[in-house]
Amino acid sequence: MKNQELMEKAYNRIAEMKELVEQDYHRLKFHVMPPVGLLNDPNGLINIDGTYHLFYQFHPFNTTHGLKYWGHVESKDLINWRQLPIALAPSEWYEKNGCYSGSAINNEGIFTLLYTGNVKDLNGNRETYQCIAMSHDGVNFIKDINNPIMNNQPEGYTRHFRDPKVWKKDDTWYMVIGTQTTEEEGRVLLFKSLNLQQWNLVGEVTGTNINGVGEFGYMWECPDLFMLGGKDVLIACPQGVEPIDDLYNNRYQAGYFVGKLNYETGQLRHDEFIELDRGFEFYAPQTTLDEKGRRILIAWMGLPEEEDHPTVEYGWIHAMTIPRELMLVDDKIIQKPVEEMKQLRRNPVVYEELIVQDKELVLDNIKGDVLELEVEFENIDALEFGILLRCSEDRKEKTILSYNVDTNKVELNRNFSGKGYRGIRRCFVNRKKIIKFNIFVDTSSIEVFVNDGEEVFTSRIYPDKDSTGISFFAVNGCTIIKKLQKWNL
Ligand code: FRU
Repeated sequence: MKNQELMEKAYNRIAEMKELVEQDYHRLKFHVMPPVGLLNDPNGLINIDGTYHLFYQFHPFNTTHGLKYWGHVESKDLINWRQLPIALAPSEWYEKNGCYSGSAINNEGIFTLLYTGNVKDLNGNRETYQCIAMSHDGVNFIKDINNPIMNNQPEGYTRHFRDPKVWKKDDTWYMVIGTQTTEEEGRVLLFKSLNLQQWNLVGEVTGTNINGVGEFGYMWECPDLFMLGGKDVLIACPQGVEPIDDLYNNRYQAGYFVGKLNYETGQLRHDEFIELDRGFEFYAPQTTLDEKGRRILIAWMGLPEEEDHPTVEYGWIHAMTIPRELMLVDDKIIQKPVEEMKQLRRNPVVYEELIVQDKELVLDNIKGDVLELEVEFENIDALEFGILLRCSEDRKEKTILSYNVDTNKVELNRNFSGKGYRGIRRCFVNRKKIIKFNIFVDTSSIEVFVNDGEEVFTSRIYPDKDSTGISFFAVNGCTIIKKLQKWNL
């Protein structure tokens, strides 16, 4: 189908479904969402001339994965996002089954996208093409006449070969791509180019069964590679990793390696894989360096093959996480909500030095469904303490965030959260005198930053709109809330 036709079809769908989509209480208030249909990976995150651009994998016609477009939003402050016209529609032969994930660069003033063209034949056989599109106004993107700039994969890999993330070092362009070997081992490959058109394979960055990684999945998607705190960091999304206790419990993983990249061989010598998020919905994160020199990360607040969220009744599914700023401390990534999130704070409520003992503590003016909470606990002798969020009056509905003093584990329990997927996620945190939670609650999500970003738990939850209660608890003993702050957002 022609570009124009495909675009019109998508806009018609958006218009047709608008009324239904907007009726959904679970539409989020401060997260990027699709206007209709399905959103997945963040693509092309970039800061150009003071504006942040974020693209997203977008299937307008259904809440399942299908023909992917690139949706487009922009923002001056990472908080207020404006929908722009769709950037890419799968109009050409080399992308006829979807404009898949990729990245953006500023090539001497030319806003350039690099992405994967996905082609499947009637037997489900796949072809994969790397493509370029360019824009002079940051709104309309023209596909390069030389597309595709890369046909299929190098020898030894399968056609699961996608998601280019590109950056420049000295005068050379580099690109990482996610793939699998013909032995079904996940890999990230490094390529280089002087002109963005001809790309040469440098080597394998890392992957399953190399660089000390061991068995770690049959396919790695959505790589990102950047410098942070003087080290090279590789983000990747391995598929097919078996869960080990509290680790790797989601369907697919999203995490990172810290090390040193050899630009001659492509090899990253690195430490072990660390998950970026400990909650339920978090995948395909992408980063960019902004004009303030910050490394900003946004991820898909969803997972592949998880399409039974209650919002499908209203014709849409999934959203992005809030933007986070990354820092490297002792070779571990620390994630903080970007400073700009503070602009959303309204109606502050503050409490100090509260005793929580055995029974639940409910406080005046501490409730709501779109809010931020900052809580500092200092334990006296309780075995466990925490917070109930999004509770109904009768407490049948609640989302439980807790800290277990014995195990030093933070736990997020959404078994009673309302509709939607259930489950518990746990993560070990370093023992500290004060345990701090910075929590962002939106109508159907929760993001918890533990101990100033040492760990983060991101999850969708679907409580009733009347479940707005918040309370604090301690089990078998006493805990002090040193300070508690709440803002409506
Ligand atoms: C990750 C992913 C990417 C692909 C895109 C397609 O979620 O599978 O590897 O490019 O989604 O929408």
